[in-house]
Amino acid sequence: MAKEFETLEIGVLHGPNLNLLGRREPEIYGRMTLEAIDMRLAAVAEQLGVRVRSFQSNSEGALLDRIHEWGQVVAGFVINAGAYTHTSIALLDALTGVGRPYVEVHLSNVHAREEFRHRSLLAPRAVGLVAGFGVESYVLGLEGLVRWLRRRESEIVD
Ligand code: DQA
Repeated sequence: MAKEFETLEIGVLHGPNLNLLGRREPEIYGRMTLEAIDMRLAAVAEQLGVRVRSFQSNSEGALLDRIHEWGQVVAGFVINAGAYTHTSIALLDALTGVGRPYVEVHLSNVHAREEFRHRSLLAPRAVGLVAGFGVESYVLGLEGLVRWLRRRESEIVD
């Protein structure tokens, strides 16, 4: 199929404890459930003319397997790796290994919190990073990634 008729597909990955959203420290993470976040992203994706597929796991290995699998089919990733952001060289290696651009997102402003949250192992290779806007961090991350991908595509075509 000609490139301009292909619908971009984006993988949205949620890391550990994000399945608890809605009841997990709502003063920090808000009251929206993960299911509601995924529904909002699907609606935004439709407006943008792209498709999203979402996955959450508490297990680092399951996230790695999904990155390997989806890395063959998606144009890029929006990832909130939760606490693995601060610890996982394996996630960084998987994301860079599949060679797809990714945007790192966080519900909370990690830089306004404990020092151990200030370091991200994923950020140095990310296209961009959005933090502190609650669910809107995901929305902005998705929009930013889609714009980035479309700009890159038009540069390649030009
Ligand atoms: C988080 C921030 C992380 O430091 C934390 O471990 C999370 C959630 C966020 O979305 O604000 O689980 O990624």
